[in-house]
Amino acid sequence: VQREMSSLPRVYITRQIPPEGLKILSESGQVQFDLWDSDDVPVPRKELLQKVKGVDALVCVLTEKIDAELLDAAGPNLKVLSTMSVGFDHLSLEELKKRSGIRVGYTPDVLTDSVAELTVALLLTTSRRLIEATHEAKSGGWGTWRTLWLCGYELANSTVGILGLGRIGVAIAERLKPFKVKKFIYTDVAPRPELASLIDAEYVSMDELASQSDFLTVCCALTPETKDICNKDLFSKMKNTSIFINTSRGGVVDQEDLYEALSSGQIAGAGLDVTVPEPLPTSHPLFTLNNCVILPHIASASYSTRNAMSALAANNLLLGLKGQPMIKELKL
Ligand code: DGY
Repeated sequence: VQREMSSLPRVYITRQIPPEGLKILSESGQVQFDLWDSDDVPVPRKELLQKVKGVDALVCVLTEKIDAELLDAAGPNLKVLSTMSVGFDHLSLEELKKRSGIRVGYTPDVLTDSVAELTVALLLTTSRRLIEATHEAKSGGWGTWRTLWLCGYELANSTVGILGLGRIGVAIAERLKPFKVKKFIYTDVAPRPELASLIDAEYVSMDELASQSDFLTVCCALTPETKDICNKDLFSKMKNTSIFINTSRGGVVDQEDLYEALSSGQIAGAGLDVTVPEPLPTSHPLFTLNNCVILPHIASASYSTRNAMSALAANNLLLGLKGQPMIKELKL
């Protein structure tokens, strides 16, 4: 779709983003834009490298790697990068920093409720074995009522561990509290007393988090420091009865170690909204396990949240182009 017509700043949008954001850009009268007019397939890299040539600003989603090659292809006009995501592991911050003057917007906060809600849904689906249960019900596996059949683990009286305490971890804990969780614990690079006090969570070491959590939920960003942080070492310290949940980024988990922990009974179950790669090939061994629930990266997927993310990405971009503070700007 070509919506360019004037000498207004040029924007390329790498995806057909939800309507609210497009409306803001169209009605602003401040920019002209061109977009990859599909939501079903990402823009091919070659096309992307062509399309970004000479643009003033770029809206992207998490499927686009924003690296040296792309920034070089865009050239010196590029002033604003606005990603429609809270995660920014697809952006090479080093390369962005090198090209001084490029400002980067992202979309935290507006998705916190949606991600926390989905995390709770995934946790309960995994711990109460809902996928196995519906499968049994419709495939003839439902015989008589049985005393221990499809038993799982409950939140009441449990210890919930949060790996990486931020806005989303707090929002998850707030939602889990009414399920009568006994204790919240967390670990992070350093204690975060202000956030922790909101949910009465205790700071513990990584080892204590592993050994004490009945439910361990990963809420940290993917960085070089957190890559593969959930590995054999962590799983081996967890209880056989504990449930592992990840709605952050697949890269924080060593999937081979997770497969081993799940198939050997080292841990009771895992619920993943994120994997490496995405999509996870249907032949992946994790799909063979009954105690692993895999969702296709949908934590923020509610109509209202995705529209809010799209609107925030558009507003960040317009403010950035005007040289004003963005609503949510990444400090480079
Ligand atoms: C993000 O925003 O980073 C999520 O993974 C998708 O909403």
